[in-house]
Amino acid sequence: MGDPVVAVVGLGYVGLPLAARAVEAGLRVVGVDIDADRVVALNDGRSHIDDLTDANVRAMLDLGFHATTSVSPEDAIDVFVICVPTPLLPGGGPDLSAVWAAGADIARSLRPGALVVLESTSYPGTTEDELRPILESGGLVAGLDFALAFSPERIDPGRQTHDFASVPKVVGGLTPACRDRAAEFYGRLVTTVVTTRGLREAEMAKLLENTYRHVNIALVNEMARFCHTLGIDLWDAIEAAATKPFGFQRFDPGPGVGGHCIPIDPNYLSHYVKEQTGETFRFVHLAQEINATMPEFVVARVQQLLSDRGIALSEARVLLIGVTYKADVADDRGTPALPIATSLAAAGAQVMFHDPVLPNWTAGDVPLVAVQLIDHAFDACDVAVLLQAHRVLDLELIASSVPALLDTRGVVPRGIPGVAYL
Ligand SMILES: NC(=O)c1ccc[n+]([C@@H]2O[C@H](COP(=O)([O-])OP(=O)(O)OC[C@H]3O[C@@H](n4cnc5c(N)ncnc54)[C@H](O)[C@@H]3O)[C@@H](O)[C@H]2O)c1
Repeated sequence: MGDPVVAVVGLGYVGLPLAARAVEAGLRVVGVDIDADRVVALNDGRSHIDDLTDANVRAMLDLGFHATTSVSPEDAIDVFVICVPTPLLPGGGPDLSAVWAAGADIARSLRPGALVVLESTSYPGTTEDELRPILESGGLVAGLDFALAFSPERIDPGRQTHDFASVPKVVGGLTPACRDRAAEFYGRLVTTVVTTRGLREAEMAKLLENTYRHVNIALVNEMARFCHTLGIDLWDAIEAAATKPFGFQRFDPGPGVGGHCIPIDPNYLSHYVKEQTGETFRFVHLAQEINATMPEFVVARVQQLLSDRGIALSEARVLLIGVTYKADVADDRGTPALPIATSLAAAGAQVMFHDPVLPNWTAGDVPLVAVQLIDHAFDACDVAVLLQAHRVLDLELIASSVPALLDTRGVVPRGIPGVAYL
């Protein structure tokens, strides 16, 4: 087979880096997104995600990439990769409407011999039970006329230690032939392809990865709460435990779990387990409960730091530093900074924030004072809270300049007076 024509459907944090890698690998790539503004911006050489610069997008365009809001049969697409959002419904299950819509759009352009891969995270069975019938609505049969596979995305926005090609790609197919077809495609993009027995195993692998993180973060978060009361430096204990070369993986406590994967994906699994077996996935529920308490714990610690200095929270000026859900990424979806700011404001505090990565943050109707130059806030706050340690922040300068600091990430060098750790 020659170089396939690839359509990446959904050009967000997952789809755009995938498209970039496919272009880089020499494939002909068209990006499909229902967001017309996003399509225009990309075709103008403007990126909307942190991991790709405008220059990266212009280089993609130079190599033949273009974006569009829809493809047609004339585009003769060989491989469709679906990277659309799968947010949570209020009841805890995934909102699959974007997967259904993308599937319907693809069905109109699907040709015999094509490969369709779902990358969006969802519960086991989504590819076969939800996507397959939609794709087959035009008369082609999956596993016979076209190949169907699931390959969980493993994008980690902001991570600089691993590039796309070096992260192994998990692939499961409806049939062995579907699996092999998808493995051959991803083999052009990454160094290692790992195949699973079927679609459900590949879907489960993704949920296992994220549930594992979720549960282990909850473990250290709960320990952070009681270690503080017991007067034990948990960060020191973690450093020590992490020297074990086997049987231990390091997780760090934090102000709460944000983003759109770790707090969300385990819900898909627990929802599915409940629906299929009637059982409660207790680990997930407990982890959620513990992680959800962290913003209030941060506020309680802030209140204590202030009270130690004779200042009431209701009269305090609190500076939040880093309000995104993760470091070095301008993404505030699910950020714990929101419940923390809300709670501080409800207690009467004046909430200030400084975030060089997201300088125009808003927090619903919480009144905020945005501080563009952090040195302007050194004397203007009573306490600062480091929520996100972006690389560009000068932590030592901040820690030695503010009246008091709560470091919720355990990254400020030890020994600076006035610094407390979560
Ligand atoms: N971003 C991550 O770090 C990450 C990590 C793990 C899992 N995921 C999963 O990957 C999937 C995609 O996430 P994301 O972060 O890239 O989302 P995103 O919101 O950044 O991007 C999704 C894109 O899909 C587009 N879209 C929506 N419906 C569409 C349709 N019917 N046809 C074409 N385009 C459509 C949107 O306009 C948007 O541009 C989700 O299932 C998510 O849970 C993401």
